Amino acid sequence: MRAVRLHEHGDADVLQVDDVDRPEPDADELLVEVAAAGVNPVDTYFRDGSYEPVDVPFTPGVDLAGIVTETGDDVEGFDEGDRVFGTGIGNGSFQGAYAEYATVPTDRVVSLPDDADLTEAGAAGVVAVTAWRALVAHADLEPAEYCLVHGGSGGVGHAAVQIADAVSARVITTAAEEYHDDLEALGAGTVLDYARDDLADAVLEAADGGVDAILDHRLDDYLQFDADVAATGCRVVGIGENSPDPGFTNDGAARSKDVNYQFMSMFNTPDLRVPLRGVAYLMESDELSIELARTYDLEEAPQAHRDVMNESVLGKLVIEP
Ligand SMILES: NC(=O)c1ccc[n+]([C@@H]2O[C@H](COP(=O)([O-])OP(=O)(O)OC[C@H]3O[C@@H](n4cnc5c(N)ncnc54)[C@H](OP(=O)(O)O)[C@@H]3O)[C@@H](O)[C@H]2O)c1
Repeated sequence: MRAVRLHEHGDADVLQVDDVDRPEPDADELLVEVAAAGVNPVDTYFRDGSYEPVDVPFTPGVDLAGIVTETGDDVEGFDEGDRVFGTGIGNGSFQGAYAEYATVPTDRVVSLPDDADLTEAGAAGVVAVTAWRALVAHADLEPAEYCLVHGGSGGVGHAAVQIADAVSARVITTAAEEYHDDLEALGAGTVLDYARDDLADAVLEAADGGVDAILDHRLDDYLQFDADVAATGCRVVGIGENSPDPGFTNDGAARSKDVNYQFMSMFNTPDLRVPLRGVAYLMESDELSIELARTYDLEEAPQAHRDVMNESVLGKLVIEP
């Protein structure tokens, strides 16, 4: 079979397509014919070694959707021909999904409902599970609460807007102007340009004076901002940053409102099948769609890695082997 592999850590050009043996599933694994593998920033961190050096040669690709073609000896609940999707696959310990076939432990995949699109599901894993964990598990988001999603056009952002809307929260998000109409259609009640000078005032006005829950993917830009727009008891969930030294200029703004900060990694999810089943349900009931901005074949994996870090798109990039 064909698989994208890196033989050393480095920039996107270290990714190459190799002919390799089709992997054999372990007792608790499925062999999946990959239909789609989402492209995520974290795939580039495994590639360049900045997240966690991996043993090479290594196939990236944390997300996957496809058809089960073989089941390990101890597998129950899955059969050949099942449609599945999942995440947490190419995480350093496991080879990833940028390949024609991948082996997947059964605790990282769930069945995909008939109505759900296989390619969308292949791009859903990291972003939808992260948004779900952040808003449902960590922020305990409730109906009618004001929820601010920074960067709503991104992979995580556009899933978070829809999940917050599915919870019946009042969704405020930020994005470049070109995505505002799309984000309103996905469920945002208020969409604001993240570049505007009076962003904090605009958020406060949209949220009747304070936001109840915030999903922040750029803590170095927004840690203080979050405290400034928070309502008393606001839950801020931090998932990322551009530089690893976010700080407050006035932490009193957070203390005076008992702001609750929770930083998270999707890879710590106790049981990935719980949010994956939730995501499957929302996809089946048309409450969550994954916007597919661009698709790539295996040979285009280096370009996909450059694009996921440098290009502005609505939603997700996906590799179709
Ligand atoms: N902790 C976790 O478990 C976890 C899980 C998933 C992702 N992450 C991290 O979360 C971040 C986002 O991931 P992603 O997959 O959603 O990436 P993505 O698809 O590239 O989205 C990033 C978004 O940020 C927007 N943005 C750029 N500048 C901004 C600004 N100044 N203010 C607000 N938004 C801005 C971009 O908009 P433009 O297109 O207009 O530039 C884009 O929509 C990454 O750092 C990723 O590593 C963490």
